[in-house]
Amino acid sequence: MQLSDQHPLVAHATRSSRLLRASLGDRPDVTPVWFMRQAGRSLPEYRALRQGQSMLDACLDPALVSEITLQPVRRHGVDAAIFFSDIVVPLVLAGVDVQIVPGRGPVFTDPVRTAAQVAQLTAIDPERIRERSEPIADAVARTTEMLAQESASWGEPIPLIGFAGAPFTLAAYLVEGGPSKDHLRARRLIHEDPAAWADLTAWLAQISGVFLQVQVAAGASSVQLFDSWAGSLAPSVYRAAALPASRATLDHVRAVRPPAGSGLAHIPLAHFGVGTGDLLADIATLDLDIVGIDHRVALDDALTRLDADVTVQGNLDPALLFAPPAVLDEATDRILEEGRAARAHIFNLGHGVPPETDPDVLTRLVRRVHERTDAA
Ligand code: CP3
Repeated sequence: MQLSDQHPLVAHATRSSRLLRASLGDRPDVTPVWFMRQAGRSLPEYRALRQGQSMLDACLDPALVSEITLQPVRRHGVDAAIFFSDIVVPLVLAGVDVQIVPGRGPVFTDPVRTAAQVAQLTAIDPERIRERSEPIADAVARTTEMLAQESASWGEPIPLIGFAGAPFTLAAYLVEGGPSKDHLRARRLIHEDPAAWADLTAWLAQISGVFLQVQVAAGASSVQLFDSWAGSLAPSVYRAAALPASRATLDHVRAVRPPAGSGLAHIPLAHFGVGTGDLLADIATLDLDIVGIDHRVALDDALTRLDADVTVQGNLDPALLFAPPAVLDEATDRILEEGRAARAHIFNLGHGVPPETDPDVLTRLVRRVHERTDAA
């Protein structure tokens, strides 16, 4: 797949945005900042738009998706938009019966726990997602068009980040049938039936890989793979049972050739997981541009563990959003300082924005990051 110069990387100059420059190792004068889950319940304008519609219905409504994706950019002045969707959306497009239960997360009607159930699921052709991807492609195209129009008033091109769930995290939901604390059933399947597990995660790699390709083709300028629950695996198990499928997912993006006018060799790739401190050396073997770090490991320490030439992203503990302003400022400044150890730093939280966050605190935080790095 070859992207044309009509792609936002060239047509909307997102290649020269702060996010893209930092992704590839430049240090823009201002450290870029965005927040995981920046679009969501912390924003009253989001709650107003979402009223009376289920999360998954909302994800298939292009006008709504683009409006929700833009909300945090307009309000907070963050340096990137992240596509409003969910990691289970490609499974919905594949015809899998799943709901997102408010306050809980994805819940599957039929958990996938046996070789026979895996065989039934993986019989679905992943290309079905591309065939049914019109609402996703349409939403991405509208969003990037709106970002281009509104960026005139922001004075900065704002890229759209596409994303997908990593096979392990998706499999953890599928096997458990819903959210779980320790993912015991998923971890059990790895050892009980390694062949079924390998089939399941290989299929999920294609599901998420096609979902990423659709977003990039429609206008996303970079992508992030969310392996939120990878931290529940021992490094040796991660290497054998999760990493290969994550690599296969990312290979779908590596197969996309960026627009000639962008000068890029590949679409920038980011990875994030919770509690991955002990996995960072293995994660580094994915040849990423950006590695997201949760709040449990300091950025400079993470860099030592990664032992690679990458941009780090993170990692303010979301709990600090509720601290007195002086405490939050001090933590922010410390993270900016720790981020100096890397070739470049993208400021973010250590995980998603909690729904009860005061949005004004986020706006102030963006200003602080931009001001501190201006002065540095
Ligand atoms: O970051 C963003 O702003 C982009 C949008 C985004 C959502 N989900 C929107 C969403 C992204 C990147 C995701 C990915 C996602 N979904 C992950 C990986 C990131 C992470 O948080 O670790 C995971 C594990 C999921 C599964 C999922 N979907 C959960 C656990 C929940 C929360 C359930 C709840 O109500 O607390 C969801 C639903 C969801 N996805 C919401 C949003 C804004 C809340 C839906 C609502 O507003 O009711």
